[in-house]
Amino acid sequence: MVTTEELDLYGDYPDDIVISVEDVYKIYKTHDIETVALSGVSLQILEGKIMCVVGPSGSGKTTLTNIIGGITKATVGKVYWANLRTDITKLSERVLTEARRNFIGFVFQVNNLLPHLNAWQNVELAARIAGVPKKVRQDRVDRLIRLVGLEERMRSKATTLSGGERSRVAIASALVNLIDTEGKGVVLCDEPTGDLDPETAERILDLFQELNETLGTSFFIVTHSQQVASKADITIEIRDGIISGFHQAGIDLDTLGETRIIRLDNNYRLPMPTDLLEMAGNPTQFRISFEDGRFILEPHKDDMAETMRVQKVRTCRVCGHEIPKGKFICPNCGSTV
Ligand SMILES: Nc1ncnc2c1ncn2[C@@H]1O[C@H](COP(=O)(O)OP(=O)(O)O)[C@@H](O)[C@H]1O
Ligand SMILES: [Mg+2]
Repeated sequence: MVTTEELDLYGDYPDDIVISVEDVYKIYKTHDIETVALSGVSLQILEGKIMCVVGPSGSGKTTLTNIIGGITKATVGKVYWANLRTDITKLSERVLTEARRNFIGFVFQVNNLLPHLNAWQNVELAARIAGVPKKVRQDRVDRLIRLVGLEERMRSKATTLSGGERSRVAIASALVNLIDTEGKGVVLCDEPTGDLDPETAERILDLFQELNETLGTSFFIVTHSQQVASKADITIEIRDGIISGFHQAGIDLDTLGETRIIRLDNNYRLPMPTDLLEMAGNPTQFRISFEDGRFILEPHKDDMAETMRVQKVRTCRVCGHEIPKGKFICPNCGSTV
């Protein structure tokens, strides 16, 4: 149950925000080991836009995707869904499943198609699982098959489809409920073009863009591909569970430093870009100043603890002789300190 009071909290969100992630942390506990998979992530998915996510393996991309889709619960933080106009992190699985129906479509990393069913039947099965009513199902599956350009291959078994064709089936399946939604739907893709040749990847992307324009669907795409990322309206870099950079358009993976914008988290912490740190020889301390509209960070060489040690030369209380570091007996008079 969502109370009116709770709904009011979200009344003044801009209309074009479809999903808002706010200061989300995710900690996995297995046995006695805790893994911090996300550490204060905030982002907004806007209506009809393509957001790409890049980052090394283990940086938290899949976790973030599943939290956005309401599959994984955030340990701390809020996830706002525009269709409910509320934070979903406290909702029950039953309410979420229902709410997800006309709002979220998943294109899974491993296209989990049933091998003995053909392309059309696979999409139909997805529609059935997603609760598309029987009387509209067949028609909708036909439309989806046309939309992703699979008419000629729709009677072919999944095992005989190419990688690109299987991806098309997966995309059609993700759209079973979104195709009739007026905007505000989000397709979440976890590395959808991972094992595709560049040409097929290109075609899938054009398809995304087309859907984006015709249906107003938003896309959230985890990718390693330059090609994919170059089509984004906004790209986020993720590293060690934090967003280490935003890019306001498609990116060039080789020159990320040129377009990167970094954002303070809710605790005023700024993620330092590791590529720049490396260029500077990985300094760990800085002097910071603000001059003429610019913040200036200057690497600070001296180790603070070492500086303190140097300042605090110890002398013997009996004879005044200097006592070397780590020694407890005065080398001059033999007194214990
Ligand atoms: N179910 C889980 N249980 C425990 N640890 C997990 C689980 N899922 C992911 N992790 C850990 O969380 C971190 C982020 O993983 P993940 O989100 O899969 O990253 P990515 O998709 O970027 O490779 C990794 O250290 C991973 O080992
Ligand atoms: Mg992953």
